[in-house]
Amino acid sequence: MGRLYAQERKRAMTFPHQRMRRLRTHESLRRMLRETTLSSRHLIAPLFLKEGEGIEEPISSMPGQYHISVDLLDPWIDRFLEAQVGALLLFGLPSRKDSQGKEAWKKEGVVQRGIRRIKKRAPELVVITDVCLCAYTRHGHCGVVRKGRILNDETLPLLSKMAISHAQAGADMVAPSDMMDGRIHAIRSQLDGQGHTDVGILSYAVKYASSFYGPFREAAQSSPSFGDRKTYQMDPANLREALEEARLDLEEGADILMVKPALAYLDVIREVKNAFQRPLAAYCVSGEYAMVKAAAEKGWMDERSVVMEILTALRRAGADLIVTYWSLEVAKWLKQESN
Ligand code: PBG
Repeated sequence: MGRLYAQERKRAMTFPHQRMRRLRTHESLRRMLRETTLSSRHLIAPLFLKEGEGIEEPISSMPGQYHISVDLLDPWIDRFLEAQVGALLLFGLPSRKDSQGKEAWKKEGVVQRGIRRIKKRAPELVVITDVCLCAYTRHGHCGVVRKGRILNDETLPLLSKMAISHAQAGADMVAPSDMMDGRIHAIRSQLDGQGHTDVGILSYAVKYASSFYGPFREAAQSSPSFGDRKTYQMDPANLREALEEARLDLEEGADILMVKPALAYLDVIREVKNAFQRPLAAYCVSGEYAMVKAAAEKGWMDERSVVMEILTALRRAGADLIVTYWSLEVAKWLKQESN
């Protein structure tokens, strides 16, 4: 009796009784059973602010992205507000570079003015700022350079000054992307010491020395003038090291962790997600954007469906938040879908 029942049961659990396609028969069913969601509140939109006036220049390596001067920011702010994206991530292009990157922490710097402009027009829009020296230094490295070497400890006070100046201008969160050791601790202590205890840190905790940053470096005019970034950014072959970077940054006071790039690092996103009970972001970088844009321009792929597939995959891998240059477009597409 028992054995018969077991046989029956086994048969009921396999083909032809069991059919996986049954729940895929029409869109309403598929929608009901979809396991992963993507919404505009998960998106963080990077924005390149350029020193000067009357500037709204397309970035050639990143179609659809612009260099914008602060005086022309208002319509953009309204667009992001209307799209209900989670946050903006600001990058600055100063008019002057020097060996230290002094423009990075100037009260009237382009990012500082941008933050104030955004917060004045839309206080509810979350503003995150990239904290790194590479766009501000003449040598284009993310830290202080002496005799061809990138110095770690000497860089920390400069990054802290930059973070403080963003906090003073009204940033909700700072995002250090330099990969110096100890920078989260340094920035957290300085922020706290100056009363900015509520300003968060989104740490580029797991940032690889990736070739996918190419189009961004043209956009941010931040290519290193000599060598590469391999002495501070991570080796793309390493996973164990990613967990160690994430753990250290959490211990030093990071509020949100980030993995970067995204698409080629889905395993890293998943492992970090499993290991730490903290919000996790993934940065879908310039090269990932440019790759799809180029293929779409040639008519080789359908941009909209490919982008939705990529971003959904990042969420499925474990990303709570996604930094993406497609934020405005995706928000629009999501709205169309829900109508
Ligand atoms: C600055 C920084 C970079 C990116 C974000 N912040 C460039 C780099 O590290 O070379 C890359 C973003 C992208 O490619 O979209 N350190």
